[in-house]
Amino acid sequence: MRGPDEDVLDPTVREDPAFSPVLRSLGEPGSVGLVPTPALLCDVDLLMANVSAMQRAADSAGVRLRPHAKSHKSAWVAGLQLDHGAAGLCCAKLAEAEALVTSLDRAAPVPVLLTSPPAGAGPMARVAALAERCDLALALDHVDAVAELVAALGTGVTVTLLCDVDVGLGRTGVVGPHAALAVATTVDRAPSLVFGGVQGYAGHAQHVAGRDARRLAVTAAADRLSEVVAALEGAGHPVPVRTGGGTGTALLDIEAGSLDELQAGSYVFMDREYADALGSDPEACFGQSLTLATTVVSTNQRGFVTVDAGLKSMATDAGPAGVPDHPGAAYAFFGDEQGMVTTTDSFRPTRGDRLRLVPPHCDPTVDRYDRMWLTRGDAVVGVVPVTARGRSY
Ligand SMILES: Cc1ncc(COP(=O)(O)O)c(C=O)c1O
Repeated sequence: MRGPDEDVLDPTVREDPAFSPVLRSLGEPGSVGLVPTPALLCDVDLLMANVSAMQRAADSAGVRLRPHAKSHKSAWVAGLQLDHGAAGLCCAKLAEAEALVTSLDRAAPVPVLLTSPPAGAGPMARVAALAERCDLALALDHVDAVAELVAALGTGVTVTLLCDVDVGLGRTGVVGPHAALAVATTVDRAPSLVFGGVQGYAGHAQHVAGRDARRLAVTAAADRLSEVVAALEGAGHPVPVRTGGGTGTALLDIEAGSLDELQAGSYVFMDREYADALGSDPEACFGQSLTLATTVVSTNQRGFVTVDAGLKSMATDAGPAGVPDHPGAAYAFFGDEQGMVTTTDSFRPTRGDRLRLVPPHCDPTVDRYDRMWLTRGDAVVGVVPVTARGRSY
């Protein structure tokens, strides 16, 4: 990555005087200590290593990587992934895709796969508009949704449609081959649609602890997807792409051979929940690039200090944050604005000290921040906007 230049400097940081001290010291040792906390920090070298490692894993297995942008919501990170050979991006929501397509400055239209189904005439009209601005594919799970999309599409725009298949998560997706055949047949009858294959996202398998147990979950999901693929092909619907997978299963998905395209997202950052689930498995090869900077604000009690990162600073669905630099210390939520960090004999921080925390769950934590500070060692080397922050509609 280049050094601290305008390419990696979110221009909005200049509008807030709170950021002036760190901006004046960009690139200097110790400048991380000047970032107002709580703040999202990203170690650029670890991030780049993660981006390369997943791309290498996909390339050497002969599968495409279409990373999920829901984890980072950043046009800058998406650009890195595309530069490293990603076949396109996945987006979870329409507004996320709209924001990233607007911000990504690429020579060719960006291939975007919308992985969650929109519903209703208004959202489908936005799908039609988005299809004019990128190379759009989307996954739907019902013939009525397909009909709704066809009604929204004008002439001259073609959208690739994948059939979303429930492979065990139960969140979205057709249940069984019969419904998949109905979707594929409806797509074949619509001149504005091209049948692109199937999506089978095994979200329930991603955080299964223990590699053997995770492999079993992957195999069961692969079997469900294969049953649908066989039925489609048997009925004369070629299935060009089988897309799915996430950080916890990507290497096992490769081993199972059931996917042509991987949608992993969290691998760019990682988080405490993944660290717990993956232990020392091969999937734990991705480094913890994302941390939260927090400041000790009160030290009047025995056994713990109070820091300025609380419920508003991170997603709370996956338990507490990690305290990576101080073995034996633990974080606990302490209300909206504060957290508690326990002290040990060798770790007694004082007021004003800075600590790093590992976010429990990266995606919804990133969504709480306008920007991400890029670091190398203890220097801030850039700052990038979380482009699609809050764009969940
Ligand atoms: C449809 C879909 N694909 C891929 C992913 C990426 O999973 P992970 O962030 O665990 O790599 C997600 C995450 O929730 C998802 O919902």
